[in-house]
Amino acid sequence: MSGKLSSPIRAAVVTLSDKASVGLREDASGPQLVELLQGIGAVTRDAIVIPDDQPTIERTLAELADAGDVDLVLTTGGTGLAPRDHTPEATLAVADRLAPGFAEAMRAASLAITPKAMLSRATSAVRKKTLIINMPGSPKACREHFAVIAPVLDHAVETVRGEAFECATPEASAPPAESV
Ligand code: MTE
Repeated sequence: MSGKLSSPIRAAVVTLSDKASVGLREDASGPQLVELLQGIGAVTRDAIVIPDDQPTIERTLAELADAGDVDLVLTTGGTGLAPRDHTPEATLAVADRLAPGFAEAMRAASLAITPKAMLSRATSAVRKKTLIINMPGSPKACREHFAVIAPVLDHAVETVRGEAFECATPEASAPPAESV
């Protein structure tokens, strides 16, 4: 059955930016995602800032997932159409399983805010017991994306950890008692 998480979400934030990785630009999105995660009770450290280099992104994501102590990785940046945007490819390269619903929901909600949402190729996937979700690079886009996924993160992590079972039971799909 789905219930309360046995322990808080353990999250990591990875910022993809050639400029921020060498100090030519301040990373505003990473710290903002850290703050948003802490706001929902997740345990997380400072954002890791790396360049838009696909092997580096793959290595970083794989190391985070393989360490076995991170439930959720949020990436920011590198999802667009620019020649150096490789985050979705790196995410898919290290993925064991696809989890497209997060990216689909974020893009659908974003299209109601800006038509430029169609420029993001963000994806979402699972490696081992870690859920990896891409977000665009701007702080505004990260806020808008986080608002979409926040309500389901507890249950998502519960299922990725293997702590939730039988989502399809009648109780799990029944409407709240007061609305019956
Ligand atoms: N989605 C939301 N919700 N809000 C935004 O402002 N910006 C778009 C898009 N998705 C945006 C958004 C823009 S302008 C781009 S170029 C793409 O995300 C890709 O961004 P990235 O290359 O920084 O990852």
